[in-house]
Amino acid sequence: MAILEADGLTKVYRRGAGEVRAVNGISLAVEAGEFMAIMGRSGSGKTTLLDLLGCLLRPTDGNLAIDGQTVIGASDGELAQIRRERIGFVFQEFNLIPTLTALENVMLPLRYGPRRPRGRQDALDLLELVELGSRAGHRPTELSGGEQQRVAIARALVNDPAVVLADEPTGELDSTTADTIMETLRGLNRDRGVTIIIVTHDAGVAGATDRVVRLSDGVVIADEPRGSRAFERALSGEAASTAAGGGRVWARLGGMLERARAR
Ligand SMILES: Nc1ncnc2c1ncn2[C@@H]1O[C@H](COP(=O)(O)OP(=O)(O)O)[C@@H](O)[C@H]1O
Ligand SMILES: [Mg+2]
Repeated sequence: MAILEADGLTKVYRRGAGEVRAVNGISLAVEAGEFMAIMGRSGSGKTTLLDLLGCLLRPTDGNLAIDGQTVIGASDGELAQIRRERIGFVFQEFNLIPTLTALENVMLPLRYGPRRPRGRQDALDLLELVELGSRAGHRPTELSGGEQQRVAIARALVNDPAVVLADEPTGELDSTTADTIMETLRGLNRDRGVTIIIVTHDAGVAGATDRVVRLSDGVVIADEPRGSRAFERALSGEAASTAAGGGRVWARLGGMLERARAR
């Protein structure tokens, strides 16, 4: 069963008299253990899609299911609980609390859930996992950008989420540091089975994942597994030919039919 399943997901922003269809009917299934990238030009809807998948935004239309359960119609409180318990967020600007130590930052999400007697040890273990065990007492200003982002990754994992959503996680980092962040994420995916979705405009970053979804004007124009030539095309943003796009549509319709039959 898919961890995330979007069906016709749509987000329309009103803008003055007009409207922007930032996400325009996207259907997408993400299985447990996937490591994938969402690419596309600035304004193509990447952040809006990620925020919809993470229940930070409510869709205008369409359905979203997490672990097979629809989140449409959930109350604000229920959505907050889903975000807290099922989703780990990593942001471009790290978003660490400057007055807290690395360890306290990682423990922060625990404040909002039920008491966890082992919470502190779990947070320390996660800092070890991202190779920052020796920096637990440091504040963000005492850490490099790459270290801060690894703290943020540890924080995203502390509630053992179903999926980690990262919006341009390497956007503020030089390319060498970006590589270490991608190695950290790849290791978490490989060794712990963490499901990870990364939004990026960087082909180097996306090329390190197993699947690339490319957006244009709020729709999916390519969705390709690693290892295919189409994957390389999706990375480079080479316009998907109409035929290829049509092929995907038919593949998706076929998948929907199969799922409908299986129900
Ligand atoms: N809060 C908002 N209000 C109005 N329009 C928005 C808002 N957020 C995003 N948009 C518009 O939606 C489109 C997609 O934006 P976004 O999802 O941020 O794209 P990306 O992350 O790919 O750059 C853009 O045209 C953007 O201007
Ligand atoms: Mg964005």
